[in-house]
Amino acid sequence: MKVFHTVRGLRDDLNKDRRQGLRIGFVPTMGNLHDGHLALIKQARESNDVVVCSIFVNALQFGLNEDWDKYPRTYQGDCDKLREAGCDYLFHPDDIEMYPNGLDTQSRVICPTMTDVLCGASRPGHFEGVTTVVSKLFNIVQPDEAIFGIKDYQQLAVIRRMAEDLCMPIQISSAPIHREVDGLAMSSRNSYITVEERPLVTVLKDSLEWIAAEIKAGNRDFSALEETAKARIIEAGFKIDYITVCNSKTLDLAANDDVEITILGAMFTEAARLIDNLSITL
Ligand code: PAJ
Repeated sequence: MKVFHTVRGLRDDLNKDRRQGLRIGFVPTMGNLHDGHLALIKQARESNDVVVCSIFVNALQFGLNEDWDKYPRTYQGDCDKLREAGCDYLFHPDDIEMYPNGLDTQSRVICPTMTDVLCGASRPGHFEGVTTVVSKLFNIVQPDEAIFGIKDYQQLAVIRRMAEDLCMPIQISSAPIHREVDGLAMSSRNSYITVEERPLVTVLKDSLEWIAAEIKAGNRDFSALEETAKARIIEAGFKIDYITVCNSKTLDLAANDDVEITILGAMFTEAARLIDNLSITL
């Protein structure tokens, strides 16, 4: 695996590959890699000649009171895992390389409406930071295909929309949610969960599954379902951010006759904010 810290170095190699007609697959990450990330790399490996991964903890997508400074950075371990998973190029820029003109004057990419709800409502500016950095990374790597996890469902939907709206010639692919044995969705932020909380946090996934089962059984009172699920999560000792039944494509509140439905949830433990989602077809 070749490691690049500069845009220019990575581009030089990728230009050579592109001239040879090689297909380039790309997996952007913030590092602290777990099996969920590595599954994305393996998926990229299957359908591309060259696999590129980026590791960049993007300050632009963190709120002022969020965990940018304490976000786990595990560069050496990440390199070993990427090599083993079959990654060809790792792009690991520093802040100056990604934002040479500083954050305040950086041009931004905005995907309106869809980013005002769910995680966007409680993390103002977050998705603007994501779409901006992902656009930059797309322009640097110019991949044929980019792969994102369904774990961050809203992020995936926003990036699909951005690529469509801005005519980006990139296939946006998705990868299933990778889970721990008990069903907790893998996340770098799971390291913030305390030992006492750990057995209880699966209440988020269980609540989404309960709502899905109710909807499949014919219950269309979405707001009542959301309220019951929220009560269950609060009873388990956590704070609710949202539990919402949505149209899978638009992320609007689900309508009675929607066929593709996604149930999304976010809750707070003492030190972490956990998200999960579940899609069903009726
Ligand atoms: P990060 O949280 O590191 O995630 C990188 C990619 O891994 C994302 O596409 C995410 O959805 C996927 N992923 C994380 N946990 C997963 C799991 N349990 N199962 C499947 N896929 C999983 O998402 C970001 O970084 C950033 O916002 C980024 C897109 C890199 C822009 O900065």
